[in-house]
Amino acid sequence: MAKKTKSILYINGDGVGPELMAHARAVVDELVSVEWVEGEAGYTTFQKSGTPLPQATIDSARACDAVLFCAVTSPPNIPNYKSAIIGLRQALDLYANLRPFDSLPNVPGPAWASGGIQPPPSASPLHFAIVRENSEGLYSGIEESDGERATATRVITKKASARIVKFGFEYARSRHFSKVTLVHKANVLRQTDGLFLNTGREVAAAYAPAISCDDAIVDSVAMRLVKSPADFQVIVTTNLFGDILSDEASALIGGLGVAPSANIGEKYALFEPVHGSAPKYAGQDVVNPTGMLRSAAMMLEHIGHKKEANRLESAIERTYGQRIVTKDVGGSAKTSEMVAAIRNNLS
Ligand code: NAI
Ligand code: MG
Repeated sequence: MAKKTKSILYINGDGVGPELMAHARAVVDELVSVEWVEGEAGYTTFQKSGTPLPQATIDSARACDAVLFCAVTSPPNIPNYKSAIIGLRQALDLYANLRPFDSLPNVPGPAWASGGIQPPPSASPLHFAIVRENSEGLYSGIEESDGERATATRVITKKASARIVKFGFEYARSRHFSKVTLVHKANVLRQTDGLFLNTGREVAAAYAPAISCDDAIVDSVAMRLVKSPADFQVIVTTNLFGDILSDEASALIGGLGVAPSANIGEKYALFEPVHGSAPKYAGQDVVNPTGMLRSAAMMLEHIGHKKEANRLESAIERTYGQRIVTKDVGGSAKTSEMVAAIRNNLS
């Protein structure tokens, strides 16, 4: 029986967003048949309509099977401007931010990328993921200032902690990982991270012994990610820690241009590259399409096209093997040339 055609809300965003999205849609179209629905959001939308996130876009997101998003620009000088991506995560209750980190062939590592030094031959491929709680923590939006003293409230709930840790374990199980690491600062933040850690351990008990659980303090994890990243399989952590560690981790596999992400809730899911709108490169055909295309692959898997998702992942890998890549990862290809090579490698 033929599968029902899935509908995808695509949001071009700003800066390099429209060009990367056009490539992603063309690649997806080559793999499966989907119904594309356009949604507006971002700074360009704000300039046109006075809001960065029209209600119609939220409604369409709820009506579609998934959302594919590229980055939006946040103007620095408009007080109370709320980024469309933050608005979407809240409106759709996308509580889990999932970032897989998988090495690609021939990509120089962070320390040697700028110096032109070759990576050590022993550097083994990395394969791990960070699951970040996306709905509370230090980004709960509760901030106050009287001009002399400013505070931000870090909200941690048992409910959100349990669901994010469960998400992490389910992800680990689906990917055949055998360990989940809860990352925290419970030695200092005794109440908030104490609650996160204790709740996490309760959830972990249901997955033992197939998937083990350990925990680690965030500052030491920041160091170990650089020194011995292979220590980690699935990291689950709170909002701010996850934000910082996941940008750090992207440097291990080639930088912002290559890292994909998913924002997942009970009902909805949104897929986006980790990078921002890189406005200075807009329209120049130079940015790396990998983060966007890997996000499209994650979306394909989510809507039931695992085989096609794997084909896309393999085509990307093969293209790195052929060194037909953009400048940020040591190549000389234009964005469009790299995408053409990836499309060729799909077969
Ligand atoms: P950015 O990620 O846009 O760019 C930072 C640097 O990373 C760029 O200068 C470039 O060197 C590199 N880079 C980013 N994407 C790349 C790609 N695909 N290929 C190769 N190199 C790439 O972050 P920045 O400059 O801090 O922010 C620019 C705008 O994007 C801001 O308005 C910011 O608010 C917004 N932003 C939006 C995000 C989102 O929509 N989820 C996330 C992060 C930033
Ligand atoms: Mg970030």
